[in-house]
Amino acid sequence: MGRCKKILTPTSIVLLGATGDLAQKKLLPALADLYLKGVLPEQLRIFAFAHSDDTTEQYREFAREHIQKKRGHTDESLDAFLKKIVYIKGDFNDRESFEETKRQLEAFDTEIGMCASKLFYLAVPPAFYDNIFEQIAATKLDQPCVIGEGWTRVLVEKPFGSDLDHAHKLEDKLSVLFKEEQIYRIDHYLAKDALQNILAFRFSNVLFEDKWNKKYVESVTIKVHEQFDVSTRGAFFDGVGALRDVGQNHMLQMLALIAMENPETLEADSLRARRAEVLQSLIIPKEKEFGETIVKGQYDDYRKTKNVAEDSKTETYFALKTYLNNRRWKGVPFYLEHGKAMKESKTEITVRFRSSKNCVCGNSKPHDHPNYVRFTISPDQKITIRFWVRKPGLKYELEPNDLVFDRAHAIKNGSIEIADAYEEVLFDAICGDQTSFVSNAEQAAAWKYVTAILALWHDVEPQHYTQQSDGPSSDLQDEMKEAAHLFR
Ligand code: BG6
Repeated sequence: MGRCKKILTPTSIVLLGATGDLAQKKLLPALADLYLKGVLPEQLRIFAFAHSDDTTEQYREFAREHIQKKRGHTDESLDAFLKKIVYIKGDFNDRESFEETKRQLEAFDTEIGMCASKLFYLAVPPAFYDNIFEQIAATKLDQPCVIGEGWTRVLVEKPFGSDLDHAHKLEDKLSVLFKEEQIYRIDHYLAKDALQNILAFRFSNVLFEDKWNKKYVESVTIKVHEQFDVSTRGAFFDGVGALRDVGQNHMLQMLALIAMENPETLEADSLRARRAEVLQSLIIPKEKEFGETIVKGQYDDYRKTKNVAEDSKTETYFALKTYLNNRRWKGVPFYLEHGKAMKESKTEITVRFRSSKNCVCGNSKPHDHPNYVRFTISPDQKITIRFWVRKPGLKYELEPNDLVFDRAHAIKNGSIEIADAYEEVLFDAICGDQTSFVSNAEQAAAWKYVTAILALWHDVEPQHYTQQSDGPSSDLQDEMKEAAHLFR
Protein backbone atom coordinates (compact mmCIF):
# COMPACT_ATOMS: atom_id res chain seq x y z
CA MET A 1 0.00 0.00 0.00
CA GLY A 2 2.16 2.81 -1.32
CA ARG A 3 5.52 1.52 -0.07
CA CYS A 4 7.42 1.75 -3.41
CA LYS A 5 7.50 4.48 -6.05
CA LYS A 6 9.43 2.73 -8.78
CA ILE A 7 10.95 -0.71 -9.06
CA LEU A 8 14.52 -1.11 -10.24
CA THR A 9 15.20 -4.81 -9.55
CA PRO A 10 15.37 -6.83 -12.81
CA THR A 11 12.22 -8.93 -12.85
CA SER A 12 10.80 -11.93 -14.69
CA ILE A 13 7.04 -12.39 -14.56
CA VAL A 14 5.70 -15.83 -15.44
CA LEU A 15 2.04 -15.40 -16.33
CA LEU A 16 0.40 -18.84 -16.17
CA GLY A 17 -2.96 -18.72 -17.94
CA ALA A 18 -1.84 -15.93 -20.29
CA THR A 19 -4.76 -16.23 -22.72
CA GLY A 20 -7.51 -16.48 -20.09
CA ASP A 21 -10.25 -14.03 -19.19
CA LEU A 22 -8.32 -12.51 -16.29
CA ALA A 23 -5.16 -11.99 -18.35
CA GLN A 24 -7.11 -10.41 -21.22
CA LYS A 25 -9.31 -8.12 -19.17
CA LYS A 26 -7.18 -7.19 -16.20
CA LEU A 27 -3.56 -8.34 -16.16
CA LEU A 28 -2.29 -7.32 -19.59
CA PRO A 29 -3.88 -3.83 -19.38
CA ALA A 30 -2.55 -3.39 -15.82
CA LEU A 31 0.98 -4.46 -16.77
CA ALA A 32 0.95 -2.18 -19.81
CA ASP A 33 -0.23 0.75 -17.67
CA LEU A 34 2.46 0.17 -15.06
CA TYR A 35 5.11 -0.08 -17.76
CA LEU A 36 3.94 3.08 -19.52
CA LYS A 37 3.91 4.96 -16.20
CA GLY A 38 7.61 4.10 -15.98
CA VAL A 39 7.39 2.34 -12.61
CA LEU A 40 8.47 -1.13 -13.75
CA PRO A 41 12.14 -2.01 -14.17
CA GLU A 42 13.66 -1.58 -17.62
CA GLN A 43 15.11 -5.10 -17.23
CA LEU A 44 11.73 -6.81 -17.36
CA ARG A 45 10.52 -9.91 -19.16
CA ILE A 46 7.03 -11.32 -19.16
CA PHE A 47 6.81 -15.03 -19.93
CA ALA A 48 3.27 -15.61 -21.13
CA PHE A 49 2.45 -19.30 -20.55
CA ALA A 50 -0.68 -20.82 -22.12
CA HIS A 51 -1.76 -23.85 -24.12
CA SER A 52 -2.61 -22.25 -27.50
CA ASP A 53 -0.32 -22.65 -30.52
CA ASP A 54 0.69 -18.99 -30.75
CA THR A 55 4.14 -17.72 -31.55
CA THR A 56 5.54 -14.83 -29.53
CA GLU A 57 4.66 -12.43 -32.37
CA GLN A 58 1.07 -13.68 -32.46
CA TYR A 59 0.71 -13.46 -28.71
CA ARG A 60 2.05 -9.88 -28.73
CA GLU A 61 -0.71 -8.96 -31.21
CA PHE A 62 -3.27 -10.75 -29.02
CA ALA A 63 -2.01 -8.74 -26.03
CA ARG A 64 -2.10 -5.49 -28.03
CA GLU A 65 -5.70 -6.11 -29.04
CA HIS A 66 -6.88 -6.80 -25.49
CA ILE A 67 -4.96 -3.90 -23.98
CA GLN A 68 -6.39 -1.52 -26.57
CA LYS A 69 -9.92 -2.78 -25.88
CA LYS A 70 -9.52 -1.54 -22.31
CA ARG A 71 -7.16 1.40 -22.68
CA GLY A 72 -6.58 4.01 -25.32
CA HIS A 73 -2.85 3.35 -25.80
CA THR A 74 -1.57 3.85 -29.34
CA ASP A 75 0.28 1.17 -31.30
CA GLU A 76 3.57 3.08 -30.98
CA SER A 77 3.27 3.57 -27.24
CA LEU A 78 2.66 -0.16 -26.74
CA ASP A 79 5.50 -1.43 -28.91
CA ALA A 80 8.22 -1.16 -26.25
CA PHE A 81 6.02 -2.92 -23.70
CA LEU A 82 5.05 -5.75 -26.06
CA LYS A 83 8.71 -6.42 -26.81
CA LYS A 84 9.07 -7.46 -23.16
CA ILE A 85 6.74 -10.43 -23.72
CA VAL A 86 7.88 -13.92 -24.68
CA TYR A 87 5.27 -16.60 -25.34
CA ILE A 88 5.67 -20.16 -24.02
CA LYS A 89 3.26 -22.80 -25.30
CA GLY A 90 2.74 -25.09 -22.35
CA ASP A 91 0.55 -27.48 -20.46
CA PHE A 92 0.10 -27.37 -16.68
CA ASN A 93 0.55 -31.16 -16.45
CA ASP A 94 3.63 -31.31 -18.61
CA ARG A 95 7.07 -31.37 -17.05
CA GLU A 96 8.75 -30.34 -20.32
CA SER A 97 6.70 -27.11 -20.49
CA PHE A 98 8.08 -26.10 -17.11
CA GLU A 99 11.62 -27.15 -18.07
CA GLU A 100 11.26 -24.87 -21.10
CA THR A 101 10.10 -22.04 -18.83
CA LYS A 102 13.20 -22.59 -16.71
CA ARG A 103 15.45 -22.44 -19.77
CA GLN A 104 13.80 -19.20 -20.85
CA LEU A 105 14.22 -17.66 -17.40
CA GLU A 106 17.90 -18.66 -17.38
CA ALA A 107 18.40 -17.21 -20.86
CA PHE A 108 17.08 -13.86 -19.61
CA ASP A 109 19.41 -13.98 -16.59
CA THR A 110 22.35 -14.65 -18.92
CA GLU A 111 21.29 -11.81 -21.24
CA ILE A 112 21.21 -9.25 -18.42
CA GLY A 113 24.20 -10.75 -16.61
CA MET A 114 22.45 -11.19 -13.28
CA CYS A 115 19.69 -13.13 -11.51
CA ALA A 116 16.33 -11.51 -12.16
CA SER A 117 13.73 -11.79 -9.41
CA LYS A 118 10.85 -14.10 -10.32
CA LEU A 119 7.14 -13.61 -9.96
CA PHE A 120 4.76 -16.48 -10.79
CA TYR A 121 1.18 -15.37 -11.40
CA LEU A 122 -1.35 -18.23 -11.35
CA ALA A 123 -4.13 -16.67 -13.43
CA VAL A 124 -5.92 -20.00 -13.72
CA PRO A 125 -8.91 -21.71 -12.05
CA PRO A 126 -8.02 -23.30 -8.69
CA ALA A 127 -8.42 -26.80 -10.16
CA PHE A 128 -5.01 -26.36 -11.86
CA TYR A 129 -3.13 -25.26 -8.75
CA ASP A 130 -2.15 -28.78 -7.64
CA ASN A 131 -0.48 -29.60 -10.96
CA ILE A 132 1.28 -26.29 -11.21
CA PHE A 133 2.72 -26.53 -7.69
CA GLU A 134 3.94 -30.06 -8.44
CA GLN A 135 5.64 -28.96 -11.66
CA ILE A 136 7.27 -25.94 -10.03
CA ALA A 137 8.63 -28.27 -7.34
CA ALA A 138 9.81 -30.92 -9.82
CA THR A 139 11.66 -28.41 -11.99
CA LYS A 140 12.95 -26.41 -9.00
CA LEU A 141 11.57 -23.23 -10.52
CA ASP A 142 11.09 -21.87 -7.00
CA GLN A 143 14.88 -21.75 -6.44
CA PRO A 144 16.81 -18.53 -7.15
CA CYS A 145 19.53 -18.80 -9.84
CA VAL A 146 22.12 -17.90 -7.20
CA ILE A 147 21.27 -18.38 -3.52
CA GLY A 148 20.63 -15.00 -1.94
CA GLU A 149 20.28 -13.10 -5.23
CA GLY A 150 16.87 -11.78 -6.24
CA TRP A 151 13.56 -12.91 -4.77
CA THR A 152 10.96 -15.47 -5.91
CA ARG A 153 7.25 -14.82 -5.23
CA VAL A 154 4.01 -16.46 -6.19
CA LEU A 155 0.67 -14.78 -6.74
CA VAL A 156 -2.42 -16.95 -6.39
CA GLU A 157 -5.92 -15.87 -7.33
CA LYS A 158 -9.08 -16.40 -5.33
CA PRO A 159 -10.85 -18.61 -4.59
CA PHE A 160 -7.84 -20.40 -3.12
CA GLY A 161 -9.27 -23.92 -3.17
CA SER A 162 -12.86 -25.07 -3.08
CA ASP A 163 -13.41 -25.50 0.67
CA LEU A 164 -11.49 -25.53 3.95
CA ASP A 165 -10.09 -28.99 3.43
CA HIS A 166 -8.92 -28.29 -0.12
CA ALA A 167 -7.45 -24.94 0.91
CA HIS A 168 -5.46 -26.72 3.66
CA LYS A 169 -4.15 -29.26 1.16
CA LEU A 170 -3.11 -26.57 -1.31
CA GLU A 171 -1.52 -24.60 1.46
CA ASP A 172 0.49 -27.65 2.53
CA LYS A 173 1.87 -28.01 -1.01
CA LEU A 174 2.51 -24.31 -1.40
CA SER A 175 4.28 -24.00 1.94
CA VAL A 176 6.82 -26.67 0.93
CA LEU A 177 7.81 -24.47 -2.01
CA PHE A 178 7.44 -20.98 -0.62
CA LYS A 179 7.55 -19.25 2.75
CA GLU A 180 4.58 -17.14 3.87
CA GLU A 181 6.45 -13.94 2.95
CA GLN A 182 6.79 -15.21 -0.65
CA ILE A 183 3.08 -16.03 -1.06
CA TYR A 184 0.73 -13.32 -2.30
CA ARG A 185 -2.92 -14.44 -2.06
CA ILE A 186 -4.88 -12.00 -4.17
CA ASP A 187 -8.14 -10.37 -3.27
CA HIS A 188 -8.25 -7.42 -5.62
CA TYR A 189 -10.87 -5.75 -3.40
CA LEU A 190 -8.16 -5.08 -0.82
CA ALA A 191 -6.34 -3.04 -3.46
CA LYS A 192 -9.37 -0.83 -4.19
CA ASP A 193 -8.97 2.80 -3.21
CA ALA A 194 -12.54 2.92 -1.88
CA LEU A 195 -11.88 0.02 0.50
CA GLN A 196 -8.58 1.41 1.69
CA ASN A 197 -10.52 4.57 2.41
CA ILE A 198 -12.46 2.66 5.07
CA LEU A 199 -9.22 2.42 7.03
CA ALA A 200 -8.55 6.12 6.58
CA PHE A 201 -12.11 7.03 7.58
CA ARG A 202 -12.25 4.81 10.64
CA PHE A 203 -8.81 5.32 12.08
CA SER A 204 -8.00 8.95 11.38
CA ASN A 205 -11.23 10.66 12.42
CA VAL A 206 -12.21 10.82 16.07
CA LEU A 207 -15.84 11.59 15.22
CA PHE A 208 -16.87 7.95 14.90
CA GLU A 209 -14.14 6.00 16.62
CA ASP A 210 -15.93 5.71 19.98
CA LYS A 211 -19.25 4.88 18.35
CA TRP A 212 -18.04 2.05 16.13
CA ASN A 213 -19.35 -0.78 18.29
CA LYS A 214 -22.43 -2.70 19.44
CA LYS A 215 -23.55 0.06 21.79
CA TYR A 216 -24.17 2.48 18.94
CA VAL A 217 -24.30 0.40 15.75
CA GLU A 218 -27.54 -1.42 15.03
CA SER A 219 -26.58 -3.29 11.86
CA VAL A 220 -24.13 -3.45 8.97
CA THR A 221 -25.28 -4.32 5.44
CA ILE A 222 -22.79 -5.25 2.71
CA LYS A 223 -24.13 -5.54 -0.82
CA VAL A 224 -22.46 -6.52 -4.05
CA HIS A 225 -25.12 -6.39 -6.76
CA GLU A 226 -24.09 -7.01 -10.35
CA GLN A 227 -26.36 -6.30 -13.28
CA PHE A 228 -24.41 -8.55 -15.63
CA ASP A 229 -24.86 -12.31 -15.68
CA VAL A 230 -22.37 -15.17 -15.87
CA SER A 231 -22.05 -14.62 -19.62
CA THR A 232 -19.07 -16.53 -21.09
CA ARG A 233 -17.72 -17.64 -17.69
CA GLY A 234 -20.00 -20.68 -17.32
CA ALA A 235 -17.17 -23.24 -17.18
CA PHE A 236 -15.48 -21.42 -14.32
CA PHE A 237 -18.56 -20.22 -12.49
CA ASP A 238 -20.64 -23.39 -12.42
CA GLY A 239 -17.98 -25.22 -10.43
CA VAL A 240 -17.50 -22.33 -8.05
CA GLY A 241 -20.73 -20.42 -7.39
CA ALA A 242 -21.32 -16.93 -6.05
CA LEU A 243 -20.39 -17.65 -2.44
CA ARG A 244 -16.91 -18.93 -3.26
CA ASP A 245 -16.45 -16.42 -6.09
CA VAL A 246 -17.26 -13.24 -4.20
CA GLY A 247 -18.44 -14.14 -0.66
CA GLN A 248 -15.44 -16.07 0.68
CA ASN A 249 -13.10 -13.29 -0.30
CA HIS A 250 -14.29 -9.82 -1.38
CA MET A 251 -17.31 -9.59 0.93
CA LEU A 252 -15.71 -11.09 4.00
CA GLN A 253 -12.75 -8.77 3.51
CA MET A 254 -15.13 -5.80 3.40
CA LEU A 255 -16.65 -7.05 6.64
CA ALA A 256 -13.17 -7.40 8.14
CA LEU A 257 -12.26 -3.80 7.26
CA ILE A 258 -15.49 -2.48 8.77
CA ALA A 259 -15.20 -4.53 11.96
CA MET A 260 -11.46 -4.75 12.68
CA GLU A 261 -9.68 -3.26 15.66
CA ASN A 262 -7.23 -0.39 15.12
CA PRO A 263 -4.10 -1.86 13.47
CA GLU A 264 -2.03 1.07 14.85
CA THR A 265 0.30 0.90 11.82
CA LEU A 266 0.05 0.20 8.09
CA GLU A 267 2.50 -2.71 8.38
CA ALA A 268 1.28 -5.86 6.66
CA ASP A 269 1.65 -8.06 9.77
CA SER A 270 -0.45 -5.82 11.90
CA LEU A 271 -3.21 -5.18 9.33
CA ARG A 272 -3.47 -8.83 8.37
CA ALA A 273 -3.60 -9.92 12.00
CA ARG A 274 -6.46 -7.49 12.79
CA ARG A 275 -8.43 -8.62 9.70
CA ALA A 276 -7.85 -12.28 10.61
CA GLU A 277 -9.20 -11.74 14.14
CA VAL A 278 -12.51 -10.55 12.70
CA LEU A 279 -12.81 -13.50 10.35
CA GLN A 280 -11.95 -15.91 13.14
CA SER A 281 -14.79 -14.50 15.21
CA LEU A 282 -17.50 -15.21 12.58
CA ILE A 283 -20.17 -17.41 14.17
CA ILE A 284 -20.51 -20.65 12.21
CA PRO A 285 -24.11 -21.14 11.07
CA LYS A 286 -26.16 -24.19 12.09
CA GLU A 287 -28.53 -26.27 10.01
CA LYS A 288 -31.70 -24.86 11.50
CA GLU A 289 -30.72 -21.40 10.29
CA PHE A 290 -31.07 -22.33 6.63
CA GLY A 291 -33.74 -20.18 5.03
CA GLU A 292 -33.83 -17.85 8.03
CA THR A 293 -30.33 -16.44 7.87
CA ILE A 294 -29.12 -18.08 4.66
CA VAL A 295 -30.76 -17.73 1.25
CA LYS A 296 -29.50 -19.38 -1.92
CA GLY A 297 -30.76 -18.16 -5.32
CA GLN A 298 -30.26 -18.73 -9.04
CA TYR A 299 -31.47 -16.48 -11.84
CA ASP A 300 -33.89 -17.86 -14.42
CA ASP A 301 -32.18 -19.37 -17.46
CA TYR A 302 -28.81 -19.61 -15.75
CA ARG A 303 -28.88 -23.33 -16.66
CA LYS A 304 -29.00 -22.40 -20.34
CA THR A 305 -25.59 -20.70 -20.08
CA LYS A 306 -22.84 -22.36 -22.12
CA ASN A 307 -20.86 -24.90 -20.05
CA VAL A 308 -23.38 -24.89 -17.18
CA ALA A 309 -24.98 -28.19 -16.13
CA GLU A 310 -28.65 -28.57 -17.12
CA ASP A 311 -29.58 -29.40 -13.54
CA SER A 312 -27.06 -27.07 -11.90
CA LYS A 313 -27.77 -26.12 -8.28
CA THR A 314 -25.00 -23.51 -8.31
CA GLU A 315 -26.02 -20.24 -6.68
CA THR A 316 -25.82 -16.95 -8.53
CA TYR A 317 -27.24 -15.12 -5.49
CA PHE A 318 -26.92 -15.40 -1.75
CA ALA A 319 -28.07 -13.50 1.30
CA LEU A 320 -26.61 -14.13 4.75
CA LYS A 321 -27.08 -12.76 8.21
CA THR A 322 -24.10 -13.30 10.41
CA TYR A 323 -22.72 -12.29 13.81
CA LEU A 324 -19.27 -11.84 15.28
CA ASN A 325 -18.32 -13.42 18.54
CA ASN A 326 -16.25 -10.61 19.99
CA ARG A 327 -16.69 -7.85 22.55
CA ARG A 328 -17.05 -5.03 20.07
CA TRP A 329 -19.74 -6.55 17.86
CA LYS A 330 -21.59 -9.22 19.85
CA GLY A 331 -25.28 -9.20 18.85
CA VAL A 332 -24.93 -6.82 15.88
CA PRO A 333 -26.20 -8.40 12.64
CA PHE A 334 -23.99 -8.21 9.57
CA TYR A 335 -26.01 -8.77 6.39
CA LEU A 336 -24.27 -9.86 3.19
CA GLU A 337 -26.08 -9.94 -0.15
CA HIS A 338 -24.61 -10.67 -3.55
CA GLY A 339 -26.18 -11.54 -6.87
CA LYS A 340 -25.55 -11.63 -10.58
CA ALA A 341 -28.23 -10.48 -13.09
CA MET A 342 -29.61 -8.04 -10.53
CA LYS A 343 -31.58 -4.87 -11.27
CA GLU A 344 -28.55 -2.61 -10.96
CA SER A 345 -24.84 -2.80 -10.29
CA LYS A 346 -23.85 -1.39 -6.93
CA THR A 347 -21.40 -2.26 -4.21
CA GLU A 348 -21.91 -0.58 -0.88
CA ILE A 349 -21.59 -0.98 2.86
CA THR A 350 -24.19 0.66 5.08
CA VAL A 351 -23.60 1.09 8.80
CA ARG A 352 -26.84 1.91 10.59
CA PHE A 353 -26.57 3.52 14.01
CA ARG A 354 -29.14 3.17 16.76
CA SER A 355 -31.67 5.99 17.13
CA SER A 356 -30.89 8.50 19.84
CA LYS A 357 -32.68 7.62 23.09
CA ASN A 358 -33.12 11.26 24.05
CA CYS A 359 -33.93 12.65 20.65
CA VAL A 360 -35.42 16.13 20.54
CA CYS A 361 -37.51 15.01 17.62
CA GLY A 362 -40.62 17.15 18.04
CA ASN A 363 -43.71 15.22 17.17
CA SER A 364 -42.09 13.26 14.38
CA LYS A 365 -43.53 9.77 14.45
CA PRO A 366 -42.36 7.12 14.55
CA HIS A 367 -39.33 8.06 16.57
CA ASP A 368 -36.90 6.53 14.15
CA HIS A 369 -33.98 8.83 13.37
CA PRO A 370 -30.89 6.75 12.98
CA ASN A 371 -27.63 8.05 11.56
CA TYR A 372 -26.02 6.13 8.78
CA VAL A 373 -22.57 5.93 7.26
CA ARG A 374 -22.49 4.48 3.79
CA PHE A 375 -19.35 3.53 1.86
CA THR A 376 -20.16 3.29 -1.83
CA ILE A 377 -17.50 1.26 -3.60
CA SER A 378 -19.01 1.22 -7.07
CA PRO A 379 -20.19 2.50 -9.47
CA ASP A 380 -19.31 5.72 -7.58
CA GLN A 381 -16.79 6.06 -4.84
CA LYS A 382 -18.42 7.90 -2.01
CA ILE A 383 -18.76 8.15 1.72
CA THR A 384 -22.16 9.45 2.82
CA ILE A 385 -23.15 10.42 6.34
CA ARG A 386 -26.87 10.72 6.99
CA PHE A 387 -27.85 13.05 9.81
CA TRP A 388 -30.99 14.90 10.93
CA VAL A 389 -31.73 18.63 10.81
CA ARG A 390 -34.70 20.85 11.50
CA LYS A 391 -37.08 21.13 8.60
CA PRO A 392 -37.71 24.81 7.72
CA GLY A 393 -41.20 26.00 8.64
CA LEU A 394 -43.29 26.97 11.62
CA LYS A 395 -43.49 23.50 13.02
CA TYR A 396 -40.51 21.81 14.68
CA GLU A 397 -39.89 18.74 12.57
CA LEU A 398 -36.81 16.77 11.50
CA GLU A 399 -35.65 15.91 8.04
CA PRO A 400 -32.69 13.88 6.83
CA ASN A 401 -29.64 15.44 5.24
CA ASP A 402 -26.50 13.94 3.79
CA LEU A 403 -22.86 14.91 3.95
CA VAL A 404 -21.18 13.40 0.95
CA PHE A 405 -17.54 12.87 0.11
CA ASP A 406 -17.47 12.01 -3.60
CA ARG A 407 -14.30 10.93 -5.43
CA ALA A 408 -16.05 11.11 -8.81
CA HIS A 409 -15.61 14.84 -9.11
CA ALA A 410 -11.84 14.73 -8.70
CA ILE A 411 -11.57 11.73 -11.04
CA LYS A 412 -13.68 13.43 -13.71
CA ASN A 413 -11.82 16.71 -13.67
CA GLY A 414 -8.53 14.80 -13.87
CA SER A 415 -7.07 16.17 -10.65
CA ILE A 416 -6.51 12.63 -9.35
CA GLU A 417 -5.99 9.29 -10.96
CA ILE A 418 -7.00 6.09 -9.19
CA ALA A 419 -4.86 3.10 -10.09
CA ASP A 420 -6.77 0.05 -11.21
CA ALA A 421 -6.87 -2.57 -8.42
CA TYR A 422 -4.89 -5.05 -10.54
CA GLU A 423 -2.19 -2.45 -11.16
CA GLU A 424 -1.83 -2.15 -7.41
CA VAL A 425 -1.87 -5.93 -6.92
CA LEU A 426 0.96 -6.43 -9.43
CA PHE A 427 2.96 -3.44 -8.31
CA ASP A 428 2.71 -4.30 -4.59
CA ALA A 429 3.72 -7.90 -5.24
CA ILE A 430 6.82 -6.80 -7.16
CA CYS A 431 7.52 -4.22 -4.47
CA GLY A 432 7.17 -6.84 -1.71
CA ASP A 433 4.29 -5.21 0.15
CA GLN A 434 1.83 -7.80 1.48
CA THR A 435 -0.60 -5.34 3.10
CA SER A 436 -3.30 -5.82 0.47
CA PHE A 437 -2.90 -9.58 0.26
CA VAL A 438 -4.66 -12.22 2.30
CA SER A 439 -2.70 -14.14 4.94
CA ASN A 440 -3.01 -17.86 5.48
CA ALA A 441 -4.86 -17.21 8.75
CA GLU A 442 -7.40 -14.96 6.98
CA GLN A 443 -8.13 -17.34 4.16
CA ALA A 444 -8.46 -20.32 6.53
CA ALA A 445 -10.93 -18.45 8.77
CA ALA A 446 -12.99 -17.30 5.77
CA TRP A 447 -13.08 -20.86 4.41
CA LYS A 448 -14.18 -22.26 7.77
CA TYR A 449 -17.26 -20.03 7.72
CA VAL A 450 -18.04 -20.52 4.02
CA THR A 451 -17.48 -24.28 4.09
CA ALA A 452 -20.16 -24.60 6.79
CA ILE A 453 -22.66 -22.82 4.53
CA LEU A 454 -21.66 -24.86 1.49
CA ALA A 455 -22.28 -28.03 3.49
CA LEU A 456 -25.72 -26.78 4.55
CA TRP A 457 -26.94 -25.91 1.08
CA HIS A 458 -25.02 -28.46 -0.97
CA ASP A 459 -28.12 -30.39 -2.13
CA VAL A 460 -30.60 -27.58 -1.81
CA GLU A 461 -32.41 -26.37 -4.91
CA PRO A 462 -31.82 -22.61 -5.18
CA GLN A 463 -34.74 -20.19 -5.19
CA HIS A 464 -35.22 -18.90 -8.70
CA TYR A 465 -35.40 -15.21 -9.49
CA THR A 466 -36.13 -13.12 -12.55
CA GLN A 467 -33.15 -11.53 -14.21
CA GLN A 468 -32.71 -7.80 -13.64
CA SER A 469 -34.68 -8.01 -10.38
CA ASP A 470 -33.83 -7.60 -6.68
CA GLY A 471 -33.10 -11.32 -6.38
CA PRO A 472 -35.40 -13.89 -4.74
CA SER A 473 -37.72 -12.40 -2.17
CA SER A 474 -37.28 -13.68 1.38
CA ASP A 475 -37.89 -12.62 4.98
CA LEU A 476 -34.16 -12.08 5.25
CA GLN A 477 -34.22 -9.70 2.31
CA ASP A 478 -37.13 -7.80 3.89
CA GLU A 479 -35.12 -7.53 7.10
CA MET A 480 -32.16 -6.18 5.14
CA LYS A 481 -34.31 -3.62 3.35
CA GLU A 482 -35.75 -2.57 6.70
CA ALA A 483 -32.23 -2.08 8.07
CA ALA A 484 -31.55 0.60 5.44
CA HIS A 485 -35.11 1.73 4.64
CA LEU A 486 -34.60 5.32 5.70
CA PHE A 487 -31.58 5.61 3.52
CA ARG A 488 -32.72 5.38 -0.05
C1 BG6 B 1 -14.24 -11.29 -9.29
C2 BG6 B 1 -15.29 -12.32 -9.52
O1 BG6 B 1 -13.30 -11.74 -8.36
O2 BG6 B 1 -14.82 -10.11 -8.80
C3 BG6 B 1 -16.36 -11.79 -10.46
O3 BG6 B 1 -14.72 -13.50 -10.07
C4 BG6 B 1 -16.90 -10.48 -9.95
O4 BG6 B 1 -17.41 -12.72 -10.64
C5 BG6 B 1 -15.76 -9.52 -9.70
O5 BG6 B 1 -17.77 -9.94 -10.92
C6 BG6 B 1 -16.21 -8.22 -9.07
O6 BG6 B 1 -15.11 -7.35 -9.04
P1 BG6 B 1 -15.26 -5.80 -9.38
O7 BG6 B 1 -13.91 -5.23 -9.10
O8 BG6 B 1 -15.68 -5.71 -10.79
O9 BG6 B 1 -16.32 -5.31 -8.42
